[in-house]
Amino acid sequence: MEQTFIIIKPEAVARGLVGEILKRFEQKGLRIVRLKMDRISEDVARVHYGHHADKPFFPGLLAAITAGPVVMAILEGPNAIAHVRNLIGATDPLKAAPGTIRGDFALENPYNMVHASDSPETAAVEIERFFGA
Ligand code: CMP
Repeated sequence: MEQTFIIIKPEAVARGLVGEILKRFEQKGLRIVRLKMDRISEDVARVHYGHHADKPFFPGLLAAITAGPVVMAILEGPNAIAHVRNLIGATDPLKAAPGTIRGDFALENPYNMVHASDSPETAAVEIERFFGA
């Protein structure tokens, strides 16, 4: 069993896509272990996206993730990290295949609807950051 962490981003919440997105994870067979709606502060966003601090899109990324409430979840299942990344699609909505969340609902970055952990190490850090130990 593996756990991963996802954020349904402000643009997806604003468009009323929370249920649709959670449904896709659930119908795949992943279990929702924790779930909450919250806002991400700029300070936490700077830490969460710290590895992008030198990128030109960093200010826009911070603005997008702090623009409104988000829904965060811990999902569990065999190979949960890889399954979730397959379900959400490529980071760039232009490259995300139809049938994926980004391929079906997103047009361009940074508004790609969902963030998901990319490795077991990242998942552990992000789960601790947003849900505590
Ligand atoms: P996410 O999976 O949350 O991880 C980093 C985020 O940065 C990514 O989704 C996008 O929202 C954003 N991002 C990545 N590349 C670009 C880009 N070229 N321009 C704007 N935003 C980007």
